[in-house]
Amino acid sequence: MNTTTITKENARAEAFAAIWSNDIDPVFTDVAKYYDCANDFASLGLISIMRRRFVSMIDVRPNYKCLDVCAGTNAIGIGLLKKEPTLELHAVDRSVAMQEVGMERARSNGFEIRSYITDVHKLPFPDNHFDVITIQWATRHLRVLEVFPEILRVLKPGGHFYHCDMLRPANRIVEQLYYLYLKACLNITSLAFRSDQTALNCRNYFIQAIRLFYSADELSRVLEELGFTDVISKPILCGMVAFHKARKP
Ligand SMILES: C[S@@+](CC[C@H](N)C(=O)[O-])C[C@H]1O[C@@H](n2cnc3c(N)ncnc32)[C@H](O)[C@@H]1O
Repeated sequence: MNTTTITKENARAEAFAAIWSNDIDPVFTDVAKYYDCANDFASLGLISIMRRRFVSMIDVRPNYKCLDVCAGTNAIGIGLLKKEPTLELHAVDRSVAMQEVGMERARSNGFEIRSYITDVHKLPFPDNHFDVITIQWATRHLRVLEVFPEILRVLKPGGHFYHCDMLRPANRIVEQLYYLYLKACLNITSLAFRSDQTALNCRNYFIQAIRLFYSADELSRVLEELGFTDVISKPILCGMVAFHKARKP
């Protein structure tokens, strides 16, 4: 493993370990009931467009075993089942509240998703198990050097990992404008949806988490260093967000 990646991961863990252990769950418990609305509100509908684009790049075949990690309210799982209803869909998330909303959404769409309330750093599945694994809007809150190897372990050889997250734009000017936009968004959204105190305290964290995170090219390199092959990166919005696709050899 490249020493730059190890140094970066140590810095992320040092800065955020307490928040990841103590605050992330209460924040998602508070936001679960308005999570989908708030995302659409804050992004002026852009999140739904990006989600549709992400789902459209995911190659699924009948009866594939798929796992969505940090599944939240199951937006990706439901999107995949709409595309291919024969999928065996599994969802992992640590938040009971987010999965309760997600399971209700799946039921009301007539889909079955198997839900596991557990930490993604240790996946409760055997080796070489899934054809497709997805993660969206969550890696910033995770220890990458533990989670990605777990994902690689439970993927079948030849299976694909699809990743989408807000990243650190490589261009400094875009990066600074992005943080200003996010700060305004977080302030307005937390007021509009009356976020509780833990969520209010985390507003700064949500920006810091991107500041210490990877650019699209850096994330591609991390995936390759960890043993994924055929890594494809599609940065959008000047690298504020990127989709990655990677294969298990
Ligand atoms: C921003 S939400 C994204 C939800 C969903 N993927 C989406 O696209 O809307 C992040 C999710 O990651 C989950 N999460 C954060 N840390 C986790 C961990 N260590 N293990 C499992 N889930 C985690 C949170 O509970 C939350 O549901």
